Amino acid sequence: MNYNKYLKHVFVCTNQRSLDRGSQDCASCGGNELRLQLVKLVNKHGLKGKVRINKAGCLDVCEKGPAMVIYPDEYWYLNIKDDNIETIFTQSIMNNEIVNELIATTREFDEIKRIRLK
Ligand code: FES
Repeated sequence: MNYNKYLKHVFVCTNQRSLDRGSQDCASCGGNELRLQLVKLVNKHGLKGKVRINKAGCLDVCEKGPAMVIYPDEYWYLNIKDDNIETIFTQSIMNNEIVNELIATTREFDEIKRIRLK
């Protein structure tokens, strides 16, 4: 039984913190622009209603932003650049494949923990 509303549900962090907090947020490192790039690609490929690109609040990986996660497979991408978007869209959203050179690793998640312990 298929119970998914969308083939892919993408959450792109667009969280914005007040400047006085001092820590990095994904809005200030391009999260909104990256999300819009994905929305345009979804529309261009006629996937509206099948692929959903949502704004997300903090995904708790701020040190490695901008960040996104793609469900249902839970593919995490961190430190995303403009020129990564087409690749992520084509491989992970259209073809359900991991982008090996971009996928977040356990090492990166561990590094975030280490940064926070300092
Ligand atoms: S602000 Fe984007 S992951 Fe925290």
